[in-house]
Amino acid sequence: MAGRSIFDTEDARRLAKRRMPRMMFDFVDGAVGSELAAQLNSEAIRQIRLCPRVLVNVDGRTLSKTFLGEEMGLPFGIAPMGMCNLVWPGADQILASQAAEHKIPVGVSTAASTRLEEMYERSEGRAWFQLYVYQSHEAAFELVDRAAAAGYTKLLLTVDVTQLSRRVRDLRNGFHVPFKMGLRQFADFALHPTWSLTTLVKGVPSPQNYDALKGDANATRKANRGSADWDFLKRLRDRWKHSLLVKGVLSPDDALKIKQTGADGISVSNHGGRQLDSAPAAIHALPAVRAAVGSDFPLVFDSGVRSGEDVVKALAMGADFVLLGRPMLYAIGANGERGLNQLIEALRQDIDVALSQTGLRAVSDVSAGILQDPSMATLKD
Ligand SMILES: Cc1cc2nc3c(=O)[nH]c(=O)nc-3n(C[C@H](O)[C@H](O)[C@H](O)COP(=O)(O)O)c2cc1C
Repeated sequence: MAGRSIFDTEDARRLAKRRMPRMMFDFVDGAVGSELAAQLNSEAIRQIRLCPRVLVNVDGRTLSKTFLGEEMGLPFGIAPMGMCNLVWPGADQILASQAAEHKIPVGVSTAASTRLEEMYERSEGRAWFQLYVYQSHEAAFELVDRAAAAGYTKLLLTVDVTQLSRRVRDLRNGFHVPFKMGLRQFADFALHPTWSLTTLVKGVPSPQNYDALKGDANATRKANRGSADWDFLKRLRDRWKHSLLVKGVLSPDDALKIKQTGADGISVSNHGGRQLDSAPAAIHALPAVRAAVGSDFPLVFDSGVRSGEDVVKALAMGADFVLLGRPMLYAIGANGERGLNQLIEALRQDIDVALSQTGLRAVSDVSAGILQDPSMATLKD
């Protein structure tokens, strides 16, 4: 695959689909129910138009920006994703080393297939830890203490998976963690020998951060995660001394309450349409959340971002920083580390051109003013 080039997310997706076992591709690509929320996420961003400006000196552009007190090489990073090494052997390690190379954050899931300490090291301190709360709050706090001891300074508490949703493609494919080999899977893996042989050599991945997940991981994966409430958030705020963000928020009322509870930021996200098929397109929720929390409160956005222009649009709609999920895994599935590097580079170049087209020199200057219809992003709460 060394000669294959990836010029955009669609290239990466197409190649990944060919190269990955169907079960693994569907695990990444799929969403809840009829997958309408996932489709709307990208479609709604695609429909947003930017207004080109001319005769502004836009030489000497910069794409770096400070977010939560840290200098980021680019205005986007890698969303936390569980079980990435099932998607492609060594995917976590590739995500971490590319995060270090581009000076961007990589989310490390509670359900990651690599230990959080290793991810922090490999990412050269760029990793953000993502917390899921299963039944035991004490176990969650212990995990948080472990992340602090490893050096993490950013914690994302994900609150939109109160229960794992029904993802129909996964059900049809018999997707199971750790995966079980039946006849159907055997055929799927036999047709994708590179994935299968590398996985055989490297060992079948399993969740590495949460002891309870190491036993019957699928039972735990499907178990209730609905016990985290406002009181838990308060206790977590007391326990975790660094930046705390709450991920998976769409309601402006929730956003305001989270800010008042003392979180340092919010991630506006519908989990890439993987949890509630009837959820709004995440980008449509962003302006109202921004209006509720005020202009200075740190907001991350994800769900449906597929290009560099999409990143700029999310910033214009009110985000301070943007995460991409599936595209990063498509790129690895398509062509490993080289694939991911090509995709990140393509996104960087798109953002750079979009800045120049909208008359801006710095990514930190992006505002609703570059939208064709600026009123889209200035909803009052
Ligand atoms: C394969 C996969 C696994 C994911 N696992 C997690 C997870 O463990 N924790 C979490 O907070 N979000 C998880 N997410 C959601 C992402 O962090 C992010 O919200 C979503 O992918 C963004 O949408 P996009 O894929 O359209 O960019 C996962 C997403 C995918 C595609």
